[in-house]
Amino acid sequence: MKSLSYSFLFVVLSFFSCGSQGTGESSGSNEKTKSETPISVVNQDFMANKGIGPVKSLTLGALDEAIAAEGKTLFDGYCVACHNPTEKLIGPAPKGILERRSPEWIMNMILNPMEMTEKDPVAKKQLEEANGVPMISMGLTEEQARKILEYFRTL
Ligand code: HEC
Repeated sequence: MKSLSYSFLFVVLSFFSCGSQGTGESSGSNEKTKSETPISVVNQDFMANKGIGPVKSLTLGALDEAIAAEGKTLFDGYCVACHNPTEKLIGPAPKGILERRSPEWIMNMILNPMEMTEKDPVAKKQLEEANGVPMISMGLTEEQARKILEYFRTL
């Protein structure tokens, strides 16, 4: 009988300690996910933001349709689980992306998404807006990423 009342006390105590821990945690994470600066503000001078990664400088010439077609094949193979070309899916739609991101930034986002979402202000913001779902590295080569970028130019 004595041991039974001890275990009852234990259950009651652990219930209370769990309860208070729970509220502490949830109020903390609310503060973390709350964000006041819209992405348009973070992205004001977008051509100057080259992102973080292997691509430092990239000048786009005339559109190459053949390379864009190869890029589409790569995109359809690697990216469509999370990206629709023209509508937001898990990740943002790449349609019109060259009007809001520099070519270097796009390449670095494809090649180095982990570091980008940790350190680049625009990518960080996007990770927040995707509710913390991370863009993952698909292990593409720079050449493959360049082909996908060419495809993005046609969208
Ligand atoms: C597992 C899902 C997933 C896959 C697979 C994925 N992405 Fe993403 N991508 C995201 C998410 C989510 C974001 C938004 C940033 C974040 O949350 O990390 C994003 C962001 C991006 C951005 C920045 C978009 C913008 O408007 O600035 C580009 C570019 C991009 N992805 C290209 C690609 C390409 C190219 C591939 C295929 C090689 C690919 N992604 C595969 C989920 C994915």
